[in-house]
Amino acid sequence: MPDYLITWVHLAAAIVLIGGLLYSQLVLTPVARDAPADAKSREVVRLAGRRFRTIAWVSLIVLILTGAYQMLNESGAVRIETTWGVVLMLKLFLFAIAFGLLLIHDFIIDPYAPPSQDASPPASSPTVFTRADILQKAVIVTTLAVLLVAAYLAEI
Ligand code: HEM
Repeated sequence: MPDYLITWVHLAAAIVLIGGLLYSQLVLTPVARDAPADAKSREVVRLAGRRFRTIAWVSLIVLILTGAYQMLNESGAVRIETTWGVVLMLKLFLFAIAFGLLLIHDFIIDPYAPPSQDASPPASSPTVFTRADILQKAVIVTTLAVLLVAAYLAEI
């Protein structure tokens, strides 16, 4: 596959991930907050979040694969020990933080789990939502920082 197509896939995956996170934070969450707190609207938001979770993880895997390809191909390999390589490591460090935060958000806090029947706080409880919301904001900030470093990387 030509290099420009790999870059295109890399960029498309970044757009899907960051665009979806921003849509969730700027559109879905405020609308859900203002909607009547009935079981049906909660369920729609839960299912929307669950669906985006799959899309987000596919985007992350695509970013890692296409990013690794660009890093290890001929033009990447010769620059790895230059300033370009150092800035790339900063980008990967920020990416690792975003990855870890999303992992906690999606699989440990898991705001999209079906409401549980036992005594533990339900997945849709305000505490779970507040924690998940803070984590999602942190993921957005770190992925936007990755994007900034990537833009700088393309210049050097
Ligand atoms: C949120 C995650 C990521 C975002 C938003 C992102 C974004 C970008 C952008 C916008 C570019 C510039 C493309 C260009 O103009 O040539 C780029 C290039 C690149 N990315 Fe990523 N990326 C992400 C994750 C990764 C990961 C995980 C890796 C490594 C495994 C990676 C490795 C690279 C490499 C090596 C380049 C080429 C840089 C160059 O040629 O100067 N990226 N990325």
